Amino acid sequence: MSMTSSAIRSAFLDYFASKGHQIVPSASLIPGNDATLLFTNAGMVPFKDVFLGQDPRSYSRATSAQRCVRAGGKHNDLENVGYTARHHTFFEMLGNFSFGDYFKQEAIAYAWEFLTKELKLPAEKLLVTVYASDDEAFNIWTQQIGVPAEKVIRIGDNKGAPYASDNFWAMGDTGPCGPCTEVFYDHGEHIWGGPPGSPEEDGDRFIEIWNIVFMQFNRHADGRMEPLPKPSVDTGMGLERIAAILQGVHSNYEIDIFQALIKAAAEATGTQDLTNKSLRVIADHIRSCAFLMVDGVQPSNEGRGYVLRRIIRRAVRHGHQLGAEGAFFHQLVAALVAQMGEAYPELAAKQAVIEKLLKIEEEQFGKTLQRGLSMLQEALQQLEGKVLPGDLAFKLYDTYGFPVDLTNDVAREQGFSVDQAGFEAEMAQQRQRAQQASQFGVDYNAQLSSSQITDFTGYEQQHGNARVLEILRDGEPCQQLADGDEALIVLDQTPFYAESGGQIGDTGTLTTADGSIFTVTDTIKLGKAHAHKGKLAGQLEVGATVMAQIDDERRQAIRQNHSATHLVHAALRAVLGEHVTQKGSLVGPERFRFDFSHYEGISVEQLQAVEQLVNQHIQANHPVQTELMSLEAAKAAGAMALFGEKYDDDVRVLTMSPFSVELCGGTHVQRTGDIGLFKIVSEGGIAAGVRRIEAVTGLQALRWLHQLESQAHQVASALKGDLFSIAERVLQSQERSKQLEKERDQLKQKLASQAGASLLEQVQLIAGSKVLVTELPQVEPKALRPMLDELKQKLGSGILLLATVNDGKISLIAGVTQDLTQKVHAGKLVGWAAQQLGGKGGGRPDMAQAGGTDTAALAEVLQQSLHQIEQQLSA
Ligand code: ALA
Repeated sequence: MSMTSSAIRSAFLDYFASKGHQIVPSASLIPGNDATLLFTNAGMVPFKDVFLGQDPRSYSRATSAQRCVRAGGKHNDLENVGYTARHHTFFEMLGNFSFGDYFKQEAIAYAWEFLTKELKLPAEKLLVTVYASDDEAFNIWTQQIGVPAEKVIRIGDNKGAPYASDNFWAMGDTGPCGPCTEVFYDHGEHIWGGPPGSPEEDGDRFIEIWNIVFMQFNRHADGRMEPLPKPSVDTGMGLERIAAILQGVHSNYEIDIFQALIKAAAEATGTQDLTNKSLRVIADHIRSCAFLMVDGVQPSNEGRGYVLRRIIRRAVRHGHQLGAEGAFFHQLVAALVAQMGEAYPELAAKQAVIEKLLKIEEEQFGKTLQRGLSMLQEALQQLEGKVLPGDLAFKLYDTYGFPVDLTNDVAREQGFSVDQAGFEAEMAQQRQRAQQASQFGVDYNAQLSSSQITDFTGYEQQHGNARVLEILRDGEPCQQLADGDEALIVLDQTPFYAESGGQIGDTGTLTTADGSIFTVTDTIKLGKAHAHKGKLAGQLEVGATVMAQIDDERRQAIRQNHSATHLVHAALRAVLGEHVTQKGSLVGPERFRFDFSHYEGISVEQLQAVEQLVNQHIQANHPVQTELMSLEAAKAAGAMALFGEKYDDDVRVLTMSPFSVELCGGTHVQRTGDIGLFKIVSEGGIAAGVRRIEAVTGLQALRWLHQLESQAHQVASALKGDLFSIAERVLQSQERSKQLEKERDQLKQKLASQAGASLLEQVQLIAGSKVLVTELPQVEPKALRPMLDELKQKLGSGILLLATVNDGKISLIAGVTQDLTQKVHAGKLVGWAAQQLGGKGGGRPDMAQAGGTDTAALAEVLQQSLHQIEQQLSA
């Protein structure tokens, strides 16, 4: 039975829907609120908290076709792609899930029924593995389903540690896990490979198609296996693998979706041979790259962005290997949309942005690719042994942007490997260097910790009484401070905001009843404590009560700026597009900075549109509302969360009309009108695909405009015009300068030729030849050459030696017309003169230049050279 990939996807979901499962749409590749995981790498990831009993749902059975990426982190298949018939960076996982509903029996029965009845796979082609000690699963397969016992293979902890087994599945180093049973398909004797558990299991003959996990534990970081509230089921069947079987092909790359992508890749790279391995790599990689971008990842040098960058670069390298010239990879997005746009409308919607970003990234890397490759090639040729040293891999990474897996890829093709450990060591060193370079003074956060908890009262209050819980002096806890001590003070409650989320810490004072004052210059977070950094005048001890007062004027300016960042974020998205996301911010009292992703320059008109929109929302004077809610509810309300950030279960959502809804823990104005005025003061790119806006608000904005205005006034009065004629006046004045320069040049020329004429009067006849030896008054050294040429021409035949002095330095030039070079050598002449003058030089027989310093001797030396010339001419 041949079925298209789409038909299989639907058949699977329909089958499980008919068995009472809720169909759940594919979640993002970026796991929501889960810092333990790089990407969604299995169908169960969106249900992690449901398995753990922390996220109750209205259903206890679910089914999905989940997009997955296995690149970087646990379950990393990047380097296998292209070398096997079944590994992908991106794939779709079909799954059915039971959350404390059915268990082993039904899970196995459903899988068997779907495979043999719905898809009509021949039972004799299937075999099964179970976790070695799982007699229950073994018996279900052999006694209830009727699979012959020799086709049910027990797999133990074959990877050397307890639970380290192909038949014990874990999402990551922590989280839900359990024993599993897997169904394999036998592609036939003509393909090399052995059954699971045999030495030949890595061959492509027996391919795992369905994994059924009996979720029973939550693994903790310390290795503890905590039983789940209810035994559950998680299954996963790779859509591409099952499609290969049903489409009668062996390799996943021969299925419908991939054939279309491979054809497109062949076209884009000008490749005839459709079986070329590099085409497979490219076809695979365009899927992960495009879908990662759909889910908001952009190429960068860290985290998820770096994995994306690595995949793109690997694809680009394979394209160049095929002979592609220039950027080709982005051209495949269209083919991908044609194949998968219907199942994933979000892909189709972002096609243009993805193409653009990919193209930029490709072009950037393309520039250094060739140079890097030839360096690698050379290194491999000169290598003794088969291992490329780590420092070389690092150099390639550092200089040419070669991710180490790309270097690996190239090396592997030629039978070499890379010293991974050596590379990591170099990387670690570089990180350390970078860290050191970015440390100004003491990094308090890195060295200090506190187990105290401070209650933050600063959303509503500017001041309040508090108790001193802890004092840290020189990084050590102490009981009391003396006059003049610098320290960090932790209070039980405080109106002081501690630096986080881009907003800088508050300043102010802590005052005791006896009048001692601790002046706070910054506030930072130590775990859940707010630590006030500053200096004491008086006495202070742990347990004392203080009146904590923030610098309210400064805080008000910070509030205005912080609220403005939210409006800018929303306005940038409205003006430039939804791909804009915040990449960082720094909010202080004077100005703020807002970094965001965008792939090209921004026009003045666009910037003005952003300013206009923000100021409109300021004028609308929306109330600024905050609300605590669950992360789920916040997302449902459309709140923008910072990408990759980990949030608590309860989050604070900040709303300014429907225009801006964002998660934020910072302090804000009460109404947008409080911001007063918003003005962008600079904009520019700071890294590939990342731009930065600096802006001012409120009175600072007015101050900035005043500065600008007074500059403009100065210019206007200098130009004798008014403010609004500056541009015209400047243009006029530029015109006039040009005119004057032109006149000056004409005059200079005239003067020079007059000077030339008067010089001619100094020509002497020596032994029948015309000779001119003279000092010129302050001629620019570089004007000597044209002057000499002109004089030579005027003389027709003759010998010249010219000198001039500028700033105590003598420049000499000698020229001899061709007919006389046999007798007098310009180079020797000038060389001799220079030597007398404390310098040196020389050159051709017809023209030569030199320098000297002994200005007092110049007249005499020129006189002597006349004698020299005379002697040579009459020789
Ligand atoms: N979560 C299981 C897997 O990814 C089904 O194999």
